[in-house]
Amino acid sequence: MDYERLNAQLSSLCEGVKFRVTLLSNAAALLYNEMEGINWAGFYLAKDGDLYLGPFQGKPACTFIAAGRGVCGAAAAQGKTQIVPDVHTFPGHIACDPSSRSEIVLPLKVGGRLWGVLDVDAPTKGRFDESDRRGLEEFTAILEKTLEETAGF
Ligand code: SME
Repeated sequence: MDYERLNAQLSSLCEGVKFRVTLLSNAAALLYNEMEGINWAGFYLAKDGDLYLGPFQGKPACTFIAAGRGVCGAAAAQGKTQIVPDVHTFPGHIACDPSSRSEIVLPLKVGGRLWGVLDVDAPTKGRFDESDRRGLEEFTAILEKTLEETAGF
């Protein structure tokens, strides 16, 4: 995966964007179309400790994740990227799409506080590694910078 290219594409999609939903919608579409071997890419947004479904690409997904639940809840609670090579062995994994087998979830922070998470799922075991962590942590850093500069929906 050429993350340098992907992140340059994200930076250009961020230019002049006024609203957060616009930014996240294009970011999800970019990931879904550019990453090989994935079946879902999108965002859950944090409110009062819980997570609510945001812009995404892939099959319809669960709309609400209670605080600390699943891989997304773990990333949100710990404020750290989670790589799960096999979701069948992750206690409390939430199966939105039964074909998902591995996933990576990264926290998004705005103003020093958890704002949401980026979740990318794959239908094969062990799809995500350290290079994905590095590349996607840069991806979320670009998003965080633009989220800081935008407001409203
Ligand atoms: N599997 C996630 C839930 C979100 S869906 O995969 C889109 C989890 O365990 O947090």
